[in-house]
Amino acid sequence: MHSIMTNYEDLDHSQGKSDAKGSVKAVTGNPSPYLVTESAGTQGADALSIVLIGPDEQRRAAASIALAGCEGGEVREFSSYPPSLGDVPRLLEQHSDVVIIDLDSNPEYALELVECIGANGASTVMVYSAKADPDQLVRCMRAGAREFLTLPIDHNIMEEALVRAAARRPASRIAKRPSGKLLAFMGAKGGAGVTTLACNFAVALAQKAGQNTLLIDLDLPLGDAALNLGIVAEYSTINALQASDRLDSSFLSKLLVKHSSGVSVLAAPGKFLAYQVTNEAIDKLIAVARQDFENVVVDVGSRQDLTGTALFKDAYTIYLVTQAGIPELRNSNRLIGQFFSSGGPKLEIVINRYEPRSLGVSEEQITKALTRPAQWKVPNDYASVRKMQVNATPLALTDSPISRVIQQMAKSVTGEPATQVKKKGFSLFG
Ligand SMILES: Nc1ncnc2c1ncn2[C@@H]1O[C@H](COP(=O)(O)OP(=O)(O)OP(=O)(O)O)[C@@H](O)[C@H]1O
Ligand SMILES: [Mg+2]
Repeated sequence: MHSIMTNYEDLDHSQGKSDAKGSVKAVTGNPSPYLVTESAGTQGADALSIVLIGPDEQRRAAASIALAGCEGGEVREFSSYPPSLGDVPRLLEQHSDVVIIDLDSNPEYALELVECIGANGASTVMVYSAKADPDQLVRCMRAGAREFLTLPIDHNIMEEALVRAAARRPASRIAKRPSGKLLAFMGAKGGAGVTTLACNFAVALAQKAGQNTLLIDLDLPLGDAALNLGIVAEYSTINALQASDRLDSSFLSKLLVKHSSGVSVLAAPGKFLAYQVTNEAIDKLIAVARQDFENVVVDVGSRQDLTGTALFKDAYTIYLVTQAGIPELRNSNRLIGQFFSSGGPKLEIVINRYEPRSLGVSEEQITKALTRPAQWKVPNDYASVRKMQVNATPLALTDSPISRVIQQMAKSVTGEPATQVKKKGFSLFG
């Protein structure tokens, strides 16, 4: 972790151009006077921005050394407290994820600072002191400090405190690079084909050069995406949701299984687990996933209780998977009317198991029920699906009427020009 010295007068000038020479002034004893570029540690885009405030040089150096042993992030050191509490907002405008304050130089003022910074809500405040005084500890915690670090600080203690701070960051603060595309598959009715399509679509995307793709099985508690792909997972979506407050990219990566096609999978649990999912936990999972993957494909199953989450609000596309039967079309009509009629997320309708001539429902009736034409029609192809299940080989890796449509769906996301699907009897429009 790199450290730089700065002072309060420079805050205005360094805004938004932190690596400009002269924007950050050197203070005594710093061998590297100007800002050193952000180091990308294990946390990558999650790197923390840290402010270290310590009027006492010796104690500040001790805290700085503990920080130097930690990975990722950028430290700005101040050799004095802000001149007044009125200077705090300017300090925090610089996206300070963590503010670490020397308590001992002026405990009363330091406590006021802790309270003032804590009240802002976006930064985690920590204090350090040479004495482990229980009374001061209680006062600091009451003022809003999340950690009380006693000098000398072991770098493991500092590292753990930073991991907790990173997990506490609001999802909006994590976004420092463009987020990946969120592609959610939702069924109009159970058994419509969500898992089959989501799995094969994710595989098709992962096969395209440079498309780092994650498949999340959110069809809890008993989703079967992993089974469809023939993989066994040790950890599940529930582990990620339960650990929401400390979920970051490095944590998430440990829960994933990589399929031979290249797609990473966050599977549903292998056994029934009663767990109450919260919207906040889903939002956090999606935010972290989108930081690390260009495509995040989600099997939502047929649940409609997630419309208040990022799945709906931030989706690049929601694929509503339905079939051309009366119950499926009726449900689709209700869902489209309720969730997609007035400027909601981008919706693409997929009619699965489509057989143009063998149904009593005409094309016109289908379009009327859906209130719009379907973008994709996936043929009914029992033989291919059966082969996939027996061999645990995704359809997207072999040529079949279904895989050709799925390849087109993937191309429409990556921006590749669509090729004509020639198979007689199946049309692709949209
Ligand atoms: N295009 C298709 N052609 C033939 N069979 C299909 C097709 N799509 C899916 N199926 C079969 O239909 C059944 C249900 O599919 P799938 O499990 O993908 O649906 P789902 O919407 O995920 O169901 P659930 O609501 O149980 O999660 C499976 O046996 C699957 O193999
Ligand atoms: Mg399913």
